[in-house]
Amino acid sequence: MAELKVLFATSEVAPLIKTGGLADVSAALPAALRAIGVDAHVLVPGYNQVMAQLTQHEVVAVFDNLPGFPSSRLLSGKMAHNIPLLVLDCPSLYQRDGGPYQDVTGHDWADNALRFGLLSKVASVLGSSASPLDWHPDLVHCNDWQTGLIPAYLHFAQGAAPSIIAIHNLAFQGIFPPATVLQLGLPPSCFSINGVEFYGSMSFLKAGLYYADHITTVSPNYAREIQQAELGFGLQGLLFERRDSLTGMLNGIDTEEWNPADDHHLAMQYSVADMTGKATNKQALQKKLGLNPDPDVPLLGVVSRFTHQKGLDLLLEIAPRLTELPAQLAMLGSGEAHMQKTARDLSHRYPGKIGAVIGFSEDLSHQIEAGADMFVMPSRFEPCGLNQLYSQRYGTPPIVHATGGLSDSVVDCTPATLKDGTASGFMFDGMTAENLFIAIQRAIGLYHDKIKWKALCKNCMTKNFSWHHSAEAYLAVYRKVLGQQG
Ligand code: ADP
Ligand code: GLC
Repeated sequence: MAELKVLFATSEVAPLIKTGGLADVSAALPAALRAIGVDAHVLVPGYNQVMAQLTQHEVVAVFDNLPGFPSSRLLSGKMAHNIPLLVLDCPSLYQRDGGPYQDVTGHDWADNALRFGLLSKVASVLGSSASPLDWHPDLVHCNDWQTGLIPAYLHFAQGAAPSIIAIHNLAFQGIFPPATVLQLGLPPSCFSINGVEFYGSMSFLKAGLYYADHITTVSPNYAREIQQAELGFGLQGLLFERRDSLTGMLNGIDTEEWNPADDHHLAMQYSVADMTGKATNKQALQKKLGLNPDPDVPLLGVVSRFTHQKGLDLLLEIAPRLTELPAQLAMLGSGEAHMQKTARDLSHRYPGKIGAVIGFSEDLSHQIEAGADMFVMPSRFEPCGLNQLYSQRYGTPPIVHATGGLSDSVVDCTPATLKDGTASGFMFDGMTAENLFIAIQRAIGLYHDKIKWKALCKNCMTKNFSWHHSAEAYLAVYRKVLGQQG
């Protein structure tokens, strides 16, 4: 069978530009696909951060007549693992100080519809017979709302490749006024319930979910949850209708980037065979965050966006009680101002016991995964979640709410699961601060039983979270969409 060619369109990709897990997936999944013979190319906007790291490139196309859009260029380069990279260069839309979606003050860019409309438009041109490139994808793989218009544009294009859309987070939808439809060059007829219309507005995500040939999401459990009102964010009806074209596949992780035995961010490397380095990393983390250098007090780690989704409000609420257990808390994150303030205030009120760093630091994120004894992730909903996967690989059992991909990737520790060697963390049902507190108490209880704790950490570190299995599952979806036999 000829090599399958896939255009992987994304709004972020590590290490070029990252706000969350999508960036990690956009780097690791194409690499895993290439390893099984899929010719995946990644398309990303040319933000400042991306342009600065694009050392060698070639201009492969110019788009100066896309109605409604400023002119742009397509640059071709290479990412890590030799993955072919296409960068959409349009300085007036992408080269500004700030993040990919928001300005420095945390407000969405006012022209996001145009910015991600252009990304979608160009991807659809590349996936159609109008493409100026010699490389023609058999399929376009879209990710989240920023690429949601690709399937819509492809639907109205000549010689169009099929598309799939991967939902990484249904909470972000790309909702804009109805006039956006015409501004972005889509036919007025698609502003309909059978199209891009969503409660009187235009929705990029709805467009993707409606027009894509197949929908995927990043865990099997989340695929079920989004068909119901509680976590469907208004799209549950459409997702239920399309359930036969909806597949949930658990994310993997980049096992080279996240490898405690070979991680240059750490004070000392370690492995399941020799855990000495874990204690050294705990010491280094305590020092870095101004925590008391006590090796026996359990240290809880957090690396997270500070948003309602992540449920950190519950942890902040019980933080004072945790210090009395005793336990220490090391937090890294940024997001909603009130949570940042509470985290900072707590670190001032409980010096030596609670440490908080507000910001984004790749270095510290690895150091927390390694140096903490347990990792806390009480998400209200979690499409997949990567940090609980990283923490297991680093022998740092996660404490999680039973939702989404957390349920699919963590096995609650009970006498039975400890005995059969599957236990890998602590899970609580019922999103209350008290339930989180009880789960943490359970974890700390086991922590003080050194033999059992060691067994739990070993279970975590020997689990297989590589992308290989899911890459095969994506390939099966591609083949299904293309009508090929597996
Ligand atoms: P989400 O994508 O919803 O934020 P995930 O768990 O899938 O959640 O992925 C989050 C990714 O972003 C992880 O790689 C995590 O380490 C990283 N991350 C989140 N916040 C920070 C931060 N403040 N500094 C460094 N890395 C962070
Ligand atoms: C989203 C989700 C997260 C998931 C990530 C990568 O940001 O919130 O759960 O792991 O995408 O798929």
